[in-house]
Amino acid sequence: MKSGRMILLGACAILGGATASQLMAHGDVTPQAVDTAGLPEIGQDWLEKNPYSGNDRAIEIGQSAYGQNCARCHGLDAESGGIAPDLRYLELGESGDQWFMERYRHGSSHDGKVYMPPFGDVLGQKAGWAIRAWLETKHEG
Ligand code: HEC
Repeated sequence: MKSGRMILLGACAILGGATASQLMAHGDVTPQAVDTAGLPEIGQDWLEKNPYSGNDRAIEIGQSAYGQNCARCHGLDAESGGIAPDLRYLELGESGDQWFMERYRHGSSHDGKVYMPPFGDVLGQKAGWAIRAWLETKHEG
């Protein structure tokens, strides 16, 4: 009996710890690094148009980068649950590219609140265009 209780308490402590760290991981907005190995070089200057549109490797990298950095707000598989805009409906083509990059690089803050953190400096240009290349494959509307 006594040892049974100890095991139960131990299990609770482990579960409690896991829950706490899962909650922290969810609230934590630290961007997850993206491995862009294998993508063509595109230089230092920020481009206006997606150089990776239709590139299979970019689409694959973009899907995982999206899952790690964007899905918690924009929804799994780009289907928004309503917290943030549904990115499947972003315009295709160059004006859509520019708007995508504006938000990706600078995020969105108003009334003293951060609605979306900036990603440009932390994840870099290649990862951004890779995410955009994947989103293009999910386009609707
Ligand atoms: C903390 C939540 C959050 C995360 C994480 C996040 N976003 Fe956002 N995003 C938002 C919100 C909220 C808006 C709407 C902002 C506004 O209207 O001011 C937005 C807007 C956008 C827009 C403009 C959409 C439109 O229809 O105007 C794009 C593009 C975008 N996000 C891309 C991304 C990408 C790519 C990532 C991952 C690298 C990402 N976001 C991560 C919350 C987030």
